[in-house]
Amino acid sequence: MNSENFAMQEPSAVVHFDIFTLFPQMFSGPFAESIIKRAQENNLMTVAFHDIRNYTTDRHHICDDTPYGGGGGMIMKPEPVFRAVETVLSQPRGWTLPIEDAYVNLPPWQPEERLPLPADTPVILLSPAGRLLTQSVVTELSQYSRLALLCGRYEGVDGRVRSQLITDEISIGDYVLSGGELAAMVVVDAVTRLIPGALGYALGAQQDSHSAGIGGLLEGPQYTRPLHFRGEAVPDILLSGHHAKIAAWHHEQALYQTLRQRPDLLSKLPLTKEDRAFLWKWGWREEASTEGNAEG
Ligand code: ADE
Repeated sequence: MNSENFAMQEPSAVVHFDIFTLFPQMFSGPFAESIIKRAQENNLMTVAFHDIRNYTTDRHHICDDTPYGGGGGMIMKPEPVFRAVETVLSQPRGWTLPIEDAYVNLPPWQPEERLPLPADTPVILLSPAGRLLTQSVVTELSQYSRLALLCGRYEGVDGRVRSQLITDEISIGDYVLSGGELAAMVVVDAVTRLIPGALGYALGAQQDSHSAGIGGLLEGPQYTRPLHFRGEAVPDILLSGHHAKIAAWHHEQALYQTLRQRPDLLSKLPLTKEDRAFLWKWGWREEASTEGNAEG
């Protein structure tokens, strides 16, 4: 066959993120390094950045306004957000607005006409008022082939964005950031790690803290060379070559680490009788473990 007539189609990435933001430049450093960079180079994951401001048509490209009812701060206006998200999600994965078309040559869109969005693409608002991102939420998100992440700014987005555009709202923790961009980076990073082939070591993601592979526990200590450092030796068991005993040791270390750092997690996990006995030995009392760190 003449190879010139046989145009190889680039296989589409496993996951595609459409990120809607007023600050696309914020992503350039973190997305150009390490695992995220490699995943993009290997076409396992792709990202398209969409500057919400490009979807304004007024002279000053205004994206925020004062809140009805008073109160401090500014609110993200609905029109540029709806226009950006509906325009992009009506297009195939990978589409971005040509920069020369920003403001002046936008695809047709009517403020009062809802554009149907693909049902299999969640539109996720990053906000401190969302459900908490956990490893099980990350696993849930990793099932999609396309995700839209909307980065909130100012004091938040107009209520109609929440009621009519987004399908999910996620917080990365109980603290307030200056905007959803850092949270979107966290989501992209955590989901990308789960794509088969994204990590150098195939079992890596299964052995992460919080992952099902280690039973939802926190990971205990790991060691590499040298054998002795600052008066502390690598535990003998790790040199024994006895895989079952090593696995049992790692499991106990994970139980201990979880008890010390996040005892609240223990009550939600399926612990065995042996796990409970081990934890009891280290002072765990089930009813007292729902808040705060373990003592001692
Ligand atoms: N935007 C501001 N704070 C946030 C948080 N904690 N999580 C997600 N998005 C946010």
